[in-house]
Amino acid sequence: MSDLEVRLARGDDLAGILSVGHRTWLATYEPITGPEYVALGLAKWWTADAVTPTIRSGRTLVAVVDDEVVGVATHGMLGEDVVLWKLYVLPQHHGAGIGSRLLAAVEQHAVEHDHARIVLSHIAGNDDAARFYARKGFTETHREEGGSGMPDQVWMAKTLTAPEEQA
Ligand SMILES: CC(C)(COP(=O)(O)OP(=O)(O)OC[C@H]1O[C@@H](n2cnc3c(N)ncnc32)[C@H](O)[C@@H]1OP(=O)(O)O)[C@@H](O)C(=O)NCCC(=O)NCCS
Repeated sequence: MSDLEVRLARGDDLAGILSVGHRTWLATYEPITGPEYVALGLAKWWTADAVTPTIRSGRTLVAVVDDEVVGVATHGMLGEDVVLWKLYVLPQHHGAGIGSRLLAAVEQHAVEHDHARIVLSHIAGNDDAARFYARKGFTETHREEGGSGMPDQVWMAKTLTAPEEQA
């Protein structure tokens, strides 16, 4: 692969980030949930209004190949835990290590800020994501009912180890 760069998102990444969200959501979720959930999710989470604050506050990371944004990770806090709100890689770039790099960068951020745990949720039926996170050391903690025709959410967590504690 050409050079892959993982870095903090900047204002001029906005269009690329939205493009990753829209293309990856459609390919991933339409077969699992049908078009309505995709339309609702894109309107709620993948607009300039939703994404811009996460760029400004340094909570979105991008993976860039040949000047194109091909992957996005957005994190935040949920109580004492770091929460991974978004991890999306363009389908044609899956399996190339990009999701792993983005996740590692979020984990590094968490460790550097002395947070002991990272949590995330994926929709029930997203088995590829479940396998990916299990391989990365996440385990299921609980499920949350979607309600009103929305898919259930599967919550997972991973306890982080500070570098000095690693063997
Ligand atoms: C889940 C996702 C973020 C992972 O990112 P990725 O760049 O594909 O992942 P990586 O290449 O870093 O790692 C994928 C793992 O699966 C393996 N793999 C092989 N072929 C693969 C393929 N075609 N697609 C996905 N993974 C593949 C890789 O070898 C790797 O295994 P390892 O971690 O044991 O080395 C990405 O596939 C994605 O965006 N999926 C759709 C959206 C989604 O479900 N996001 C999560 C929402 S909660």
